[in-house]
Amino acid sequence: MARLGVNVDHVATIRQARGGVEPDPVTAAAICELAGAEGITIHLREDRRHIQDRDLMVLKRTVQTSLNLEMAATEEMVGIALKVVPDCVTLVPEKRQELTTEGGLDVVKNRAALARGIDLLRQARIKVSLFVDPELEQIKESARLKADCIEIHTGTYCTARGRGEAAELNKIAEAIRAGKKLGLAIHAGHGLNYVNIRPVVALGGIEEFNIGHSIISRAVLVGMDRAVREMVALVRGG
Ligand code: PXP
Repeated sequence: MARLGVNVDHVATIRQARGGVEPDPVTAAAICELAGAEGITIHLREDRRHIQDRDLMVLKRTVQTSLNLEMAATEEMVGIALKVVPDCVTLVPEKRQELTTEGGLDVVKNRAALARGIDLLRQARIKVSLFVDPELEQIKESARLKADCIEIHTGTYCTARGRGEAAELNKIAEAIRAGKKLGLAIHAGHGLNYVNIRPVVALGGIEEFNIGHSIISRAVLVGMDRAVREMVALVRGG
């Protein structure tokens, strides 16, 4: 059975909109764990647009399951990871202007730059996962670099329609087969929601799903009724 890791970045996005203290991604992470999540994922971005260094430090101490830190393979981020020692680091490409991570790492092209970071992280006994598109060359290079896992980028499958969707699903299936053959643990994520996840789960072989946007979106909607009722009662002097 696969594990669910919940990405709580968007909780921090709402907090940063007002620059205050609520909602706290640390509290959200605890609730996710109580609900059965087996991991918490956060992306500490270079521009600190949502998750802050403080969130990482506190989550390191409070997460009871497994803390997965998504980050770019920069000197600054590797230094932070070596200091905090999360359970897993997922290396992702990062562009300042992007709304969210756009596509997987080019492990083949950036081999030299990634190799040193991966070595340092593994020496610190941090599990290293590489976020890659479902492409054979990227997966082979990930294994050569001695990554522990790959996280298959599911974003293209999630936005594809019709025959394109079936073709993208097939690429994911092949990537799972190739990764497992090379001894890599298989994670998957990006763009997955309550509908498009079913065929991906049915493929089998994925140990961990990391999902954020659709879960936080649903939490806002399913929580709206209760939140409004509570405020209505207060406004009415209840
Ligand atoms: N995995 C990786 C590597 C990501 O960068 C993200 C987005 O931060 C996710 C998973 C979660 O994607 P989504 O928010 O679309 O579920």
